[in-house]
Amino acid sequence: MREQLEKIKQQGLEALRACTDGKELDALRVKFLGKKGELTAILKQMGKLSAEERPVIGQVANDVRQTLEQAVSARLEELKARELELKLKLETLDVTMPGKTAGVGGLHPLNIVLDDLIDIFQSMGFDVVDGPEVETDYYCFEALNVPKDHPARDMQDTFYLGDNLVLRTQTSAAQIRVMESRTPPIRIICPGRVYRADEVDATHSPVFHQVEGLVVDKGITMCDLKGCLEQFAHEIYGPETQVRFRPSFFPFTEPSVEVDVTCSECGGKGCRVCKGTGWIEILGAGMVHPNVLRGCGIDPDVYSGFAFGIGLDRLTTTRYKISDIRLLFENDQRFLNQFQGR
Ligand code: DAH
Repeated sequence: MREQLEKIKQQGLEALRACTDGKELDALRVKFLGKKGELTAILKQMGKLSAEERPVIGQVANDVRQTLEQAVSARLEELKARELELKLKLETLDVTMPGKTAGVGGLHPLNIVLDDLIDIFQSMGFDVVDGPEVETDYYCFEALNVPKDHPARDMQDTFYLGDNLVLRTQTSAAQIRVMESRTPPIRIICPGRVYRADEVDATHSPVFHQVEGLVVDKGITMCDLKGCLEQFAHEIYGPETQVRFRPSFFPFTEPSVEVDVTCSECGGKGCRVCKGTGWIEILGAGMVHPNVLRGCGIDPDVYSGFAFGIGLDRLTTTRYKISDIRLLFENDQRFLNQFQGR
């Protein structure tokens, strides 16, 4: 019996040493020390022993039980420690590693040019105002001297939202709102989106950007318009840039002009950008039509004014030599990232 006990001890210790996880350890504990375990099975036979043998073997059995119990709890501690070590290793975090940097955004090229433009006009005393993109027919056309049956309505393909409601086709609509709500002297620019039912191609988009300008005061003449726009062109394109006025027609100005600047690419010699002409058209302008002033409650015999509408997209594509206007609206990061920090 002593030998059997010794054998159980050896086997138990060996099995415990080989055991690698908590479940297995528990199974071993039951196998050797449990109520139906091997040790108990032997102890049940103690009754067969003589009175002298019994305490001796009992002592041995107790030793074996103690040894195995200690071995089980020691092994349990070891396994727990090993598990913790493994977990820590897996969750290692190097706090000295540099973090992921969040990308720094930049201004959209349209906004870079617009900011410059606002700086220029603000330094000349202009206020910046805002106007609604959804306009009534009255502000977008009628008040701008374009009655319902006027052929000039064909100049712009309009998105109608209802009988009387449109997506504004021109920031000129904002002129009227300003003249209605302010008294001269007036000096404002109004940048914003405008909409026209145009097919999309490299130079057309159904949504684009204009910057409207309006000056109304006593004694304003075409010379003021010319001086103002020359100043603007020199600041945007450089002092060597020439400006030319071409007679044109807009219903809300009389006289009306289209304004060209010498091509910044070739300096006026003629190139691909200016289609060989040496000039690039950047805006429409003119002296505010007396009908328009009158409609806003401003007496055209006392006051006069000039207005202009700059195409911001064109200004931006020529400045940065962007060959396709669609790039301005697609928000491709590879395109936009080129303007970071400008
Ligand atoms: N609204 C015109 C357009 O979209 C541009 C324009 C021309 C605006 C002459 C003006 C102006 O204020 O006086 O084509």
